[in-house]
Amino acid sequence: MCQEQRGFTLWFTGLPCSGKSAVADRVAEVLRAHNLKVERLDGDVVRQSLCRDLGFSKKDRDENIRRVAFVAKLLTRNGVAVLTSFISPYREIRDEARREIGEFIEVYVKCPLEVCMSRDVKGMYQKAIRGEIKEFTGISDPYEEPVNPELVLETDRESLEESARKVLDYLKKSGYLDDHVHL
Ligand code: ADX
Repeated sequence: MCQEQRGFTLWFTGLPCSGKSAVADRVAEVLRAHNLKVERLDGDVVRQSLCRDLGFSKKDRDENIRRVAFVAKLLTRNGVAVLTSFISPYREIRDEARREIGEFIEVYVKCPLEVCMSRDVKGMYQKAIRGEIKEFTGISDPYEEPVNPELVLETDRESLEESARKVLDYLKKSGYLDDHVHL
């Protein structure tokens, strides 16, 4: 029998428009191209399905992360490469996800608020500034930076390919991936 793939969860956290989904999508693409089993769990998607009933209070954001961590745990223990992209602004619940999942790699997608605001892909920052969206992370809601993330990506200073490469290099260094996996 061929060697089993070792499961892990890459947990991308950061401000809205920091680049979480873009990097996670790129890494997922590379892993799939190498025939690995991959699942993406993305905030915008999950909030239309599994977490449809939830809003953006601290209680609801924590519940969102708790459900996602549960799914990520099941996938991870079945040898899947899981890539999650959620703002996940609260440290304590991220740490809870870490404890639950075990093979957990916290990736802080770090980008200055001004740069995230200038990207404003969905125009939500502008709406938040005008007060049309309440409890918006970075404007009217907190973001607690990770204290000891396994990885920090600085998406205002590095290209998408550089960020993706940093993630792949980390996975290789940590024994989750074979050396031949490349961009
Ligand atoms: S989290 O805080 O619970 O982790 P999550 O990543 O699932 O958030 O969802 C964030 C997405 O919801 C954003 O990409 C944005 O499109 C949308 N959104 C709607 N309202 C808010 C809000 N008040 N704060 C942040 N994101 C919001």
